[in-house]
Amino acid sequence: MNDKIYLYPVWVRLWHLFNALLFLVLIFSGLSLQYSGVPATLIPFKYAVSVHSISGIVLTVNYIFYLFGNYFTSNGRYYKCPLHGMFNRIAKQFRYYSYGIFKNEAPPFPVTADRKFNPLQKLSYVIVMYLFMPLLIISGVALLFPDYIPTQIFSRSGIHLTDLIHISAGFILSMFMVVHIYLCTIGKTTTSNFKSMINGWH
Ligand code: HEM
Repeated sequence: MNDKIYLYPVWVRLWHLFNALLFLVLIFSGLSLQYSGVPATLIPFKYAVSVHSISGIVLTVNYIFYLFGNYFTSNGRYYKCPLHGMFNRIAKQFRYYSYGIFKNEAPPFPVTADRKFNPLQKLSYVIVMYLFMPLLIISGVALLFPDYIPTQIFSRSGIHLTDLIHISAGFILSMFMVVHIYLCTIGKTTTSNFKSMINGWH
């Protein structure tokens, strides 16, 4: 029996490839900007500014492409999180990741054509893609045009607050990326999820 399922259409794979590469460039250039005073910085300040701004703009265009893709194709259905019973589903998946997997138990939510993500994966992708990515992008675009940022927000410097949001979102997304890559190794084999993101087939 052929149990292969085509889950990652070309547009998802292309979006994801550019997103992952741009993220790496943004992390390195962002760290170089943050630690510009340190003598052995990763990228010299004058290059880091342009590299970070240009890759941020390309990431934004790529993100808009992703939003359109999820809205106009059936891929968006995998991100729907019905609230009813959500806590139980997440608890089940969490128990599997922290206990069941070490006892060789079967996954509680195996991948099917209608269920690409397990409940924890789904929740984390929704939070990352629909909360933290917009926060990162909107604060990043605002920092490109600082003249438009109000001087005072809640009696604090507007630029400082925008920068704080930008850096915090960037940090959280970088942490997500590390955990995301680790969890991607928990597939049928260590590399099977990575192969799926290359050839489209689960
Ligand atoms: C080098 C970095 C990265 C690697 C190696 C990687 C790897 C993977 C792999 C193997 C999958 C398929 C398994 C699955 O569906 O969970 C996947 C899916 C996904 N990744 Fe990543 N990822 C990286 C970076 C990122 C980043 C930075 C983000 C978001 C900020 C992200 C968001 C997603 C999303 C939303 C999906 C599901 C896409 C869909 O099928 O609709 N990834 N990733």
